[in-house]
Amino acid sequence: MNIYQEILKERGFITALAPMEGVTNSVFRSVISEIGKPDLFFTEFLNVEGFCSKGRDKVIQRLDFTPTEQPVVVQLWGNVPEYYAKTIEYVKGLHPAGIDINMGCSVRDVLSSGRGSALINDKVLAKEIIAAVKESSGDLPVSVKTRIGYEKIDLENWIGSLLEQGLSMLTVHGRLAKEGYSTPARWNEIAKCVTLRNTVAPDTLILGNGDVKSMNQLEDYVKLYKVDGVMIGRYILNDPWIFSGREEISKEERIMILRKHMEIFKSYDQEENLFDSQKKYIKAYINNFEGAGDLRMELMRSKDVKGLLSLL
Ligand SMILES: Cc1cc2nc3c(=O)[nH]c(=O)nc-3n(C[C@H](O)[C@H](O)[C@H](O)COP(=O)(O)O)c2cc1C
Repeated sequence: MNIYQEILKERGFITALAPMEGVTNSVFRSVISEIGKPDLFFTEFLNVEGFCSKGRDKVIQRLDFTPTEQPVVVQLWGNVPEYYAKTIEYVKGLHPAGIDINMGCSVRDVLSSGRGSALINDKVLAKEIIAAVKESSGDLPVSVKTRIGYEKIDLENWIGSLLEQGLSMLTVHGRLAKEGYSTPARWNEIAKCVTLRNTVAPDTLILGNGDVKSMNQLEDYVKLYKVDGVMIGRYILNDPWIFSGREEISKEERIMILRKHMEIFKSYDQEENLFDSQKKYIKAYINNFEGAGDLRMELMRSKDVKGLLSLL
């Protein structure tokens, strides 16, 4: 039994925080571990070509994680099977919970280079990548995160072909590669993927992803769409306590947690000019109480982490 099956057996469904570049890094995941931990974390995606180049130092921090963040799955992207294998040789030494392959990113640069969800249009290469990852991952479970099609819904061909690859888990984001966030995620199509899975690959777990805003909704969707679990992305920034299911978080607690976040950020010895990257977290924590807007504005005016901490 792999770790995903164990979680499913124990809890009845799996909750996961989505990989989000520039958001779900080790600092944020550490805080989330304390205030409302999902069953699974994913790292921000790591480009295997970048990792195997001279630029390794620029991307390697995506592999940072601490024991409190476990179980954490390392997500990789790229389109050269050998680079996946080389990267995984290194990643295995970090003992993540699993390896996930990104076949769902639809950012223009990623797509135009034939990576991410462009792989939906190259099933042969997608299979080669999965085979290389499975071969090099040893005992680690291998999963894929993807969308329901490129320009049109393509469950039989695309999801079907992925399910034939003996994956431990498949995360389905219920949108097309060509869609932004304005179209709602199609959970009926995710449910069809579950039906397909039941005949093609009963051992592959399915996580559904898209537009889930609360634990109540997550639990409803598990029942309604029969997925093994749900991955939540953007709404973690609306409510960092989302996985705790708590609704009332006091102003004092919010301030205390922002302070904790900034202390961890500081301990990572990040350059001060990266402080701007932290403003989204100020917005996330300092929310939902009277006067939150004014306090946020004041906090945002801080020039650096030190200034922010003393203000807090
Ligand atoms: C800022 C941002 C960064 C993202 N980075 C990644 C990534 O690194 N890997 C990935 O598979 N998906 C990435 N995604 C997609 C999310 O994981 C998720 O599939 C998508 O946001 C839909 O889920 P949601 O409606 O719960 O947000 C990103 C999304 C956003 C908004």
